[in-house]
Amino acid sequence: MKKVFVTSNELPGTAVDDIKGNFDVEIFDQEDLPTKSEIIDGAKDALALISTVSNHIDKEIIANCPDLMIIANYGVGFENIDVSYATKEGIFVTNTPDVLTETTADLAWALMFAVARRVVEGDKVVRQGKFKRWGPNFLLGLDVHRKILGIYGMGRIGSAVARRSKGFGMRVIYHSRSRNLHAEEETGCIFVDFNNLLSESDFLVITVPLTDTTIGRFGLGEFKSMKNDSILVNISRGPIVKEKELAEALEKGFIWGAGLDVYEKEPEVEKRLLNMKNVVLLPHVGSASLETRVKMSEMAVANVVSALNGETPKNLVNPEVLKRRD
Ligand code: DGY
Repeated sequence: MKKVFVTSNELPGTAVDDIKGNFDVEIFDQEDLPTKSEIIDGAKDALALISTVSNHIDKEIIANCPDLMIIANYGVGFENIDVSYATKEGIFVTNTPDVLTETTADLAWALMFAVARRVVEGDKVVRQGKFKRWGPNFLLGLDVHRKILGIYGMGRIGSAVARRSKGFGMRVIYHSRSRNLHAEEETGCIFVDFNNLLSESDFLVITVPLTDTTIGRFGLGEFKSMKNDSILVNISRGPIVKEKELAEALEKGFIWGAGLDVYEKEPEVEKRLLNMKNVVLLPHVGSASLETRVKMSEMAVANVVSALNGETPKNLVNPEVLKRRD
């Protein structure tokens, strides 16, 4: 039977179990992440590898798994995989787009509100028995409605964040590699250059993927150009923001607050951020709703089944591989 190695025993739903009759499915059955040698051990004779965004699938792993036909990543991001080496080896790489778009956009809004309306601080006050009375100055935050929402990256998730702004009467501006005319028509968002995005946004939400051009895109210089009462939200990938410089910008009051779901050196977090009340920190849970995570399992498994049945998987991120496989 064709072997499928799965690096996590936590994929929600029944999709993995459902293919056990047709394939030899081996699941890494420990709580900790598998090490590189544990991944090689499991996948060295496998035709398919289902990885998560926490597994670093590098050249060494791929080179040691000569039978691999597909690496099916559980997540929309795939910078954890050496895609160009996999392509050279004729291996399909797939991801799980679309199904997590709306869920991740919801979380961007949760962070915007949590920071602006000081939701986490308020919760702590109540739990710690410090809620003594209503007060005119007590836990004053910032409005969300009728503000300017800036979105860096107008792809699927950026568009979904923009769509949600309608009910709040916000003006939406965005910067992206290229214009998204469909999003402009659908949400009324306006393309601006990067500097205008920085200087005009009241909320600046990062939704671009991590690439050579977006890595380290936000540092002290960018924060200085932002409004003093603006809020930065990052639901994409941590290394897009220089975390130490973000901490400095917050200390110096260059921006008002930040909501982060992702970190530069995940799961480590810049220590100074941990003590800041105007920062809300989440543990990379953008797509973490039960419904979505089940759909992601189904999608990753469907990609594997297609590849092992000799078809092109639907969510291929390296279509160049098709030429290599001819
Ligand atoms: C993704 O899919 O890339 C997410 O970050 C995982 O939640």
